[in-house]
Amino acid sequence: MALGLTLLSNWARPLACACPVKDHSPHRTSAAVTGTSAAVIGTSAAVSGTSAAVSGTSTFYGGNLNGGMCSFSTYTLPSGIYGTAFSGSAWATAANCGACIEVTGPSGDPITAMIVDQCPECDAGHLDLFEDAFKKLSPSSSDPLSTSYTFVDCGIKTPLVLHNKSGTSQYWFAMQVVNANEPVSVLEVSTDGGSTWKSTTRTEYNFFQNESGFGTTTVAVRVTSASGKTVVVKNVGVVSDSQITAGSNF
Ligand SMILES: *[C@@H]1O[C@H](CO)[C@@H](O)[C@H](O)[C@H]1NC(C)=O
Ligand SMILES: *[C@@H]1O[C@H](CO)[C@@H](O)[C@H](O)[C@H]1NC(C)=O
Repeated sequence: MALGLTLLSNWARPLACACPVKDHSPHRTSAAVTGTSAAVIGTSAAVSGTSAAVSGTSTFYGGNLNGGMCSFSTYTLPSGIYGTAFSGSAWATAANCGACIEVTGPSGDPITAMIVDQCPECDAGHLDLFEDAFKKLSPSSSDPLSTSYTFVDCGIKTPLVLHNKSGTSQYWFAMQVVNANEPVSVLEVSTDGGSTWKSTTRTEYNFFQNESGFGTTTVAVRVTSASGKTVVVKNVGVVSDSQITAGSNF
């Protein structure tokens, strides 16, 4: 299959986090990335995801999507979805990066926000929302604001995207999933076209990594959502940067 373009970027592991700093680091300008789409060869049934509401008080900051702890360095939030930083104490090795939550304030309509950054000092009920999200929830309030949230599907209809980390090769593997409709829990790699699968380990900054690599620059990737749905993408190039768009989403 055709290869996508290599995206050269100055991507680096984020060192800073969301709060309590209220200003935000400058956004990197990123070039467009060409993705080649690949066939989805399987989806499997899901356990339905219900989540209890988590209450607390929330604050806001300038927002940091591209430099945030989830490393969404080339991602743009879908229309109608806001950004938020999520609790460091409930971080769980980036398990909720890319997950969507419905956030309710003291009054008015709830909003949907995607978890894209970490707030180390926030307890589990405390969201550090992007400023536009906070203002949408409660235009006339200053922080902190009483909120509660539940996990929801993002409602994303476009396919999920696999994104190579800079430095990825046959000797060192690091890949992330963006634009997923449900939180991603597992990313596995096959070097035999999908007969057997090898594991990766998620990092705090949301890449699925295997330090020894897989010995080849073309693999199949199987992504499993928190509810057990899978998307398989074949003929994935394992080369620095760039990305590939899957055939579907969860
Ligand atoms: C990396 O992959 C190998 C198999 O190729 C596996 O044995 C190992 O556990 C994986 N390491 C991590 C950190 O997932
Ligand atoms: C990784 O980069 C290579 C080279 O640009 C590209 O062909 C491949 O599609 C990329 N794979 C992913 C998953 O981003």
